[in-house]
Amino acid sequence: MLLLIIGITGDLGQRLAREAMARGVQVRGLSRNPDKLKPEISENLESFVCSYAYNDISALDKAMAGVDAVICAYTTDSILYLDGNLAVLRATERAGVKIFFASSFTNDWTNIQRGDFPLYDPLISFVDQAELTSSVNPIYIINGTFAEWLFHEPTDGPIKRTYYGRADEFKASWTTMDDAAAYTIEILLHNPDVQEGRGGVFHIRSGEHTLREQAEIFQNITGKKLELINGGDLKNAEEALEAARKKDHRDLWGYLLEASSVVAAKGLWEFKKPVLNLDHVRKPTTLEEHLVQRYNVSKT
Ligand SMILES: NC(=O)c1ccc[n+]([C@@H]2O[C@H](COP(=O)([O-])OP(=O)(O)OC[C@H]3O[C@@H](n4cnc5c(N)ncnc54)[C@H](OP(=O)(O)O)[C@@H]3O)[C@@H](O)[C@H]2O)c1
Repeated sequence: MLLLIIGITGDLGQRLAREAMARGVQVRGLSRNPDKLKPEISENLESFVCSYAYNDISALDKAMAGVDAVICAYTTDSILYLDGNLAVLRATERAGVKIFFASSFTNDWTNIQRGDFPLYDPLISFVDQAELTSSVNPIYIINGTFAEWLFHEPTDGPIKRTYYGRADEFKASWTTMDDAAAYTIEILLHNPDVQEGRGGVFHIRSGEHTLREQAEIFQNITGKKLELINGGDLKNAEEALEAARKKDHRDLWGYLLEASSVVAAKGLWEFKKPVLNLDHVRKPTTLEEHLVQRYNVSKT
């Protein structure tokens, strides 16, 4: 199998490439900055196509020639979720490629409506557009939050997490990037819907914990404090979102936390759909294991 990874120079892209190669898949890369690739990846690629932007159609067409499958792993970005994914989708149509993992690897947008979490609106628009207009059925991976993004430490003082309502009691799914890469390549290689070009939405995860459990494990492993702050009820969360959104509704990152808090307070980040069990491919990393490795803590 020849797999094209778009955005191969990224955190996830390089992990996907490493995992695919380890499983005997030939990998071609497409990206703007090949110098970001680790040597063990660049030296083992079938080939690399350099593009100047997501809408570099001739680079996309060149990279698609003869490939069996495409995974798009562009960075988290509203233009790339819609315009970037669409440019890749149209290139897969022209090349006759039937297996296309769209750039996703997100929290669960299937439980929410447009406007609930605006960063995902362009992705939801892409899903609708592909469904209405394309002969290719994209594949979407939903993995919750990447573990690497779970605990963002400020330069001064402890991590503080504000939640609303009972958001601290709902289970939130999370996945390490290495687990996500291993499970994605397994889905590519062995899922019958994927193989037959039927696409689909796949839920994967390393684990799920409430905010309280996350805080407790973080403190136990690292010895550092993670402060949970109750900001009030759902109405307070909605007011905080409204105030933040008013500043500049186009600045999606500017009110990302407030939007996420409203969804969390409604319990809508919890996975409601079945999760694929792929333990036979790779034992899911525990949160404790992730933190031990990340903080270089010696095991007792
Ligand atoms: N659920 C979560 O918590 C979470 C967190 C992070 C990411 N994600 C998802 O994981 C996937 C990969 O994310 P990542 O963290 O691995 O991304 P990343 O490392 O930030 O970036 C991946 C690649 O995207 C390319 N890129 C960036 N801006 C671009 C642009 N304007 N036009 C074209 N290419 C551009 C870059 O390649 P070049 O510079 O070489 O072109 C970069 O190496 C995304 O689908 C994202 O949604 C999920």
